Amino acid sequence: MAEPVKVVEYSEPYRPQFHFSPTEKWMNDPNGLVFHEGIYHLFYQYYPDDIVWGPMHWGHATSKDMIYWEHRPIALYPDEHGLIFSGSAVVDKDNTSGFGKNGKTPLVAIFTYHSMEGEKAGRNDFQTQGIAYSLDNGATWEKYADNPVIGNEGIKDFRDPKVFWHEDTQSWIMALVAGDHAKFYRSKNLKDWELSGDFGKSQGAHGGVWECPDLFPLQVEGSDEQKWVLIISINPGAPNGGSGTQYFIGDFDGERFVSEQNEPKWLDHGTDNYAGVTYNNTPNGERIFIGWMSNWDYAMHTPTDGWRSAMTVPRKLSLRKTGSEYVLANFPLEQMDTLAQSKLTKEIEVAAASSDTLKVEGLNQSQLVLKTASKDFKLLFKNDLDEVLELTMDGKNGAFMVDRRKSGKVGFHKEFGNKEHFMPLGLLGEDLYEMKILLDWSSIEIFLDHGLLVMTEQVFPTAPYNTLIIENKDETSEIQLDPIKRMDSIWRDNK
Ligand code: FRU
Repeated sequence: MAEPVKVVEYSEPYRPQFHFSPTEKWMNDPNGLVFHEGIYHLFYQYYPDDIVWGPMHWGHATSKDMIYWEHRPIALYPDEHGLIFSGSAVVDKDNTSGFGKNGKTPLVAIFTYHSMEGEKAGRNDFQTQGIAYSLDNGATWEKYADNPVIGNEGIKDFRDPKVFWHEDTQSWIMALVAGDHAKFYRSKNLKDWELSGDFGKSQGAHGGVWECPDLFPLQVEGSDEQKWVLIISINPGAPNGGSGTQYFIGDFDGERFVSEQNEPKWLDHGTDNYAGVTYNNTPNGERIFIGWMSNWDYAMHTPTDGWRSAMTVPRKLSLRKTGSEYVLANFPLEQMDTLAQSKLTKEIEVAAASSDTLKVEGLNQSQLVLKTASKDFKLLFKNDLDEVLELTMDGKNGAFMVDRRKSGKVGFHKEFGNKEHFMPLGLLGEDLYEMKILLDWSSIEIFLDHGLLVMTEQVFPTAPYNTLIIENKDETSEIQLDPIKRMDSIWRDNK
């Protein structure tokens, strides 16, 4: 494989220390998530000339563990068919495409071409689907000579192919979005595609355009039941404004996806988890999700210099059933805990109806885990300038809230700090539950009950948060806080 791009330790203001971010310039969606020959690939929407969205390429990074990343040269450049929008990648083990040579297994990328000329001319057929292949595990790529493999008959938003191998029908399946619904195609060779079904015109959320679909089976935890999950990003139309990720639970027979679900379910109730998709071909079949940690409302205005945007931590997806309701839980990969080595505090107990203030140097790059049955408390993350990020558990009103209105820089866009963000608590039981929080220099990820309820948000404090205030108003339940741990930095010289 080609030499990775040399990486130094990046430490500019707001630079994430344990989330993936590009060394420089603009990034949006994760693309082509695939595992092959010991390597996890992360491609991503990338504009190498500026820190705002522009002509799209696929940037590239690789990892052996999804914690530490090596930054690689750009994988796919725009060509005569257009810019390279979002898509996926598969391992073509049986060489169904015929791209393999000398026994080398091809990696095949399936992506959307976006023709700027077509768009400017006011046409509505400017998005088509193309493919490219690599015979050296993603280091170099060759575009298919007969692109595009799926043309466009006049659907303005027609993009983001997610392809996977469907064992039962011995076919490649593609989920694609078409404005207000998803379409499913199948193929025997990744080149010739046949439309088999569509889904969603009258189901789920429709406050904006459907984007970045993903479709996969998951076993319901603790049972033999298997269901299919369809993930659909939507922009705008998310519960707290702007872009967000909904999902549907249903069944897929190789042609059609069906679901009885009419109301949308949200994978993440925060404002900053978008366009997320899952890995193909993971070694033990785990479903691993990465999202873009931003929101189209203000993504191009966040106050960073030199680079813009980061990904969520990789999260394992699981399907839980509470009563007759299916829930897609998402929780940081276990191995992320290996970054949480040094303790910044001792264990702390906050008794019922009392509060505690902790001075914690390094709080802004840390992991917090608390266990409680309290349904009435606040966590305040403060800095020396009295900027505060406020989390509220309000069991009486059945809501959890993130308030970043006074969290630091918020004035760069009117949609960033204009309101409190809500998550309905409906799914949370009465007993002891766990809350895990990952705080990096410009983000917070909150996981209730091992990913049953999740909020991900960006924050831009002017000085690092170094004080944690826990106000427990519950009259009967205490709050148990594990030692707060520093999260190690993932930037390092790659040898
Ligand atoms: C989602 C998205 C995709 C598109 C890509 C373009 O954020 O709008 O639908 O392929 O970004 O960069």
